Amino acid sequence: LVLCGGGVAAITWVLNRSAVNTIGKVNFDRALKIPPLAESAVDGQGRRVFELKAQAGESDLGHGATRTWGYNGSYLGPTLRAKRGEQLVVNIHNGLGEPTTVHWHGMHLPAQADGGPHRPIAAGGGMFQAAWKLDQPAATLWYHPHPSERTEAQVYRGLAGMFIVDDPATDSAQLPHEYGVDDVPVIVQDKVFDGSQLSMSDRFGSDIGVLGDELLVNGTPGPYLDVQTERVRLRLLNGSTARVYNFTLEGGRQFAMVGSDGGLLARPYMTDHLRLSVGERAEIVVELKPGEHLALRSERPLPDFDFGNRKFQGGEDSFDVLQLRAAPTLRKSPELPAALVDTPRLDPKQAAAKRDFTFSGRDINGDGMDMDRVDAVVVKNTTEVWNVENGHDTPHSFHIHDVQFQVLSIDGAAPPEPLGGWKDTLFLEPHRKFSVIARFADYADPTTAYMFHCHVLRHEDEGMMGQFVVVEKKGDKPRLQHG
Ligand code: C2O
Ligand code: CU
Repeated sequence: LVLCGGGVAAITWVLNRSAVNTIGKVNFDRALKIPPLAESAVDGQGRRVFELKAQAGESDLGHGATRTWGYNGSYLGPTLRAKRGEQLVVNIHNGLGEPTTVHWHGMHLPAQADGGPHRPIAAGGGMFQAAWKLDQPAATLWYHPHPSERTEAQVYRGLAGMFIVDDPATDSAQLPHEYGVDDVPVIVQDKVFDGSQLSMSDRFGSDIGVLGDELLVNGTPGPYLDVQTERVRLRLLNGSTARVYNFTLEGGRQFAMVGSDGGLLARPYMTDHLRLSVGERAEIVVELKPGEHLALRSERPLPDFDFGNRKFQGGEDSFDVLQLRAAPTLRKSPELPAALVDTPRLDPKQAAAKRDFTFSGRDINGDGMDMDRVDAVVVKNTTEVWNVENGHDTPHSFHIHDVQFQVLSIDGAAPPEPLGGWKDTLFLEPHRKFSVIARFADYADPTTAYMFHCHVLRHEDEGMMGQFVVVEKKGDKPRLQHG
């Protein structure tokens, strides 16, 4: 362990990353579970209606009967899928013994439907109806609880699911798109078990929450996926509470990254690694040879950072995630298109406001979360530049509700290609400055706040979160109502 003046926080982080709490070896002896597609019905007003019930149950996660939570089942939830332009209604039922909410991560929607902590759904049968018009590019989004101070525990127990937005104009028919066959959700989560039960005990004194020593993909331990086609599209979601992954393929094989949080990239980006911090998604396409077994892995998610007078050692944790098993003969897949989606760049010269946020300790700009404090009043249909700085040694994960943003710069330099598309969550490396730009379109509501926060869920629960309110016109004041 070599550290030069990295400080106590960095030492804690390094110990956690490298020495003890890594993921153990797996046997790839269980078929990957595919979350079912959620059923829906179209009502008399032409709205697509989903029913989601948060409930307790038991799951086999490799340790017998484990008490877990899920939506419409015992662990995770169904994949919701809808088309751009559709009017959506989701009836959320709370069958748990504590309050919860459902937040639509990455979704552009009115604050009332966003599922922030202000409107808890009562324990033991409470109900909430979220309604909005789906209007954003094809993307891999997700949903999870967002109650005050209980988000980490509820997500860790199993409450999370994927939301696939379909939009022929911003998807590509040449990409694999048969759900569960060559277009597969890959929800990656790490866990600690105490006997047969999930444990959140902080055995390693982690600064960021649970770093598990076992891995689940879609709730499957040691998973393999049988593949029948030459190419398979994996919709990767880091659904962990704290861990960062750096996805690779066995033997350093290249793959194509085709999408980030909020939609497809301008063109496929060939790479041999892809880092996702908590809450981030990416779509990748992997090409397989007939009959081969190829492991998706995570290797050394954190590089060694060298900030001149301080060094940060990333650690060595590397482990298997999912084995892809190609059939002896594979069905043809279309060639990857050279170009995907043309996305206009937002122009910082048009920005109506510029704001600075520094992440430090458990605070943003020195403040913890306060449901009665509004940190930013944004005028509807304006563009803003947010400068976000990680002021200390702990990595964070920065998320804004309601919008997809574009990364303008990292420490003054243009972002790398994988960060060139729509993002709603961004890995905040220690001691770096990020500048992002977003347009706050369509929805104003002075009574209800949207959140922005660290997506390391323990940090979020401990108050590393702020609120913004979108108002109709300049000079309008927020009038928060909640309870
Ligand atoms: Cu995925 Cu405010 O959260
Ligand atoms: Cu954080």
